[in-house]
Amino acid sequence: MFKVAIDGPSGAGKSTIARRAAGELGFVYIDTGAMYRTAALACLRKEINISENPEKAIEIVNNISIDIDYIDGEQRIFLDGEDVSEKIRTPEVSMGASSVSAIGEVRKKLVNLQRELAGTKNVIMDGRDIGTSVLPDADVKIFLTASAEIRATRRYKELLEKGITTEYDEVLTDIINRDKQDSTRAVSPLRQAEDAVLADTSDLTFDESLSLVLDIINNKRNV
Ligand code: DC
Repeated sequence: MFKVAIDGPSGAGKSTIARRAAGELGFVYIDTGAMYRTAALACLRKEINISENPEKAIEIVNNISIDIDYIDGEQRIFLDGEDVSEKIRTPEVSMGASSVSAIGEVRKKLVNLQRELAGTKNVIMDGRDIGTSVLPDADVKIFLTASAEIRATRRYKELLEKGITTEYDEVLTDIINRDKQDSTRAVSPLRQAEDAVLADTSDLTFDESLSLVLDIINNKRNV
């Protein structure tokens, strides 16, 4: 099995690039952020403050089922059987996911699920701790990043395209806060694995970023 780990901060384009690269290579794409988002959605629906009440968050997450399925090649994610793939993309769920992902017990459950999914297939998995913790033996590790301003601009446009109204400054503040929360947490903080290749896409178009990632992968596969 060939495993690719792509990590990096919010809005670096990981999921779009990983999905397209997986399509080109015939690999399965696994979006681990969607799992933390689904856990957060379950907590928000119970109206709990995740950071102030981690015990309750653990109880909720331990009592839900999170399932992944592929429909027309697209990853769909289910919370207790309900397809929540679109509902997990709001700014509120983004912040909640950042909070819920700082809880060690929650990570344990989701990391197990991620390792199970990666067990039998060629995969590209993206997240924050894939190269450092989930798949430490991945064949290729890429740390994909871009400046906070560039990431905010891209995320802002993406949200507008989805009809979600928001302010650019709010998106930038969200990104800076999430970067801080994700990289300073005690459990599996966001960091570049020692053996990961750094790919900074600040000055690259989407197509250039995709080519860069495919080149890095294909070099290791000797294609
Ligand atoms: O990639 P994303 O924006 O969908 O991730 C949502 C949140 O989940 C993000 O704030 C960090 C967290 N996350 C994580 O801690 N570990 C992962 N492997 C993936 C995401």
